[in-house]
Amino acid sequence: MTVATPHLLIIGCGDTGVRVAARAIGAGHRVSAVVRSAESAARARAVGAASFRLDLDHDTDDDQLAALVGAADRLLYSAPPPRAGEADTRLARVLGLAETPPADWVYIGTTGVYGDHGGAWVDEDTPAAPATDRAQRRLDAEQRLLAAVSRATILRAPGIYGPNRLPVDRVRAGEPVLADENGWTNRIHIDDLAAIAWRALTEQWPHRIYNVCDGVPTARTAYYDTLAELLGVAAPPRIDWAEARTRFSAMRLSFLSESRRLSNARLVTDTAYRFIFPDYRDGLLSSLRGETVTA
Ligand SMILES: NC(=O)c1ccc[n+]([C@@H]2O[C@H](COP(=O)([O-])OP(=O)(O)OC[C@H]3O[C@@H](n4cnc5c(N)ncnc54)[C@H](OP(=O)(O)O)[C@@H]3O)[C@@H](O)[C@H]2O)c1
Repeated sequence: MTVATPHLLIIGCGDTGVRVAARAIGAGHRVSAVVRSAESAARARAVGAASFRLDLDHDTDDDQLAALVGAADRLLYSAPPPRAGEADTRLARVLGLAETPPADWVYIGTTGVYGDHGGAWVDEDTPAAPATDRAQRRLDAEQRLLAAVSRATILRAPGIYGPNRLPVDRVRAGEPVLADENGWTNRIHIDDLAAIAWRALTEQWPHRIYNVCDGVPTARTAYYDTLAELLGVAAPPRIDWAEARTRFSAMRLSFLSESRRLSNARLVTDTAYRFIFPDYRDGLLSSLRGETVTA
């Protein structure tokens, strides 16, 4: 008797998705990757995935998308919501096309759904309180997916860091950061996120929400100072809120106006996941060396 090769569909096969694709192919899966750009399609093909350049914002690709969703055993949804509105119309389109949905879904969302907590600890029982339309769209996606399928694992990620995802140029250029020692920040290394997504897809994790963070929040400034130290340059100069408002983008200011400390206790308790980079200093060093770590 031949056993069918499991088929993983990754919708939004970007930096994280391509790492999951590489793991899946190494484990004998067939992988289909949905992206928009030629560059991302080439990157997916380079790890052995079949790539499909489709746009989730238009119905012109619906037939192809429906065929892909119908043929998949597992689905990683890692595309962001659209730029406007309060609903994730992209995920809504995919769910609308899924006549026979895959059995296992994993969705990568954000911890932005919690809103500001003034530096307090936050876990998955903390009610979501999105402060922006962007975060509201993320919450909409989570709720939509949990209601539509019988098993979906929601991975709420904070800032994802890794190779080519560090503010190296800004720190080397001596660009200032907000002098906000009470502003807490949380992180996940991209290799940990990919490993967690892969395990969630293949180990039938519960129909549940998980914070996926290293569990060691720090002051925002400490992160920049550590990076500067590892680069061998001076710590970034500090500016106050008034100056930050004149220099930083609206998006950056909105991130800076939220502070919370994220617990990963549910993830650790439910899944016994052991982080590759529990310490962000090691994660930064590895990222600066350009490594991809799969152990
Ligand atoms: N940046 C962070 O720190 C952070 C924090 C928390 C959560 N997240 C979210 O976590 C997820 C994974 O992050 P990541 O950094 O791996 O993401 P990423 O590299 O930006 O990948 C996103 C993927 O979605 C695809 N995509 C975007 N719009 C699309 C559309 N209209 N139709 C089809 N495909 C579309 C992109 O295709 P192209 O590359 O071809 O455009 C890309 O392959 C994303 O949803 C991200 O927003 C990010």
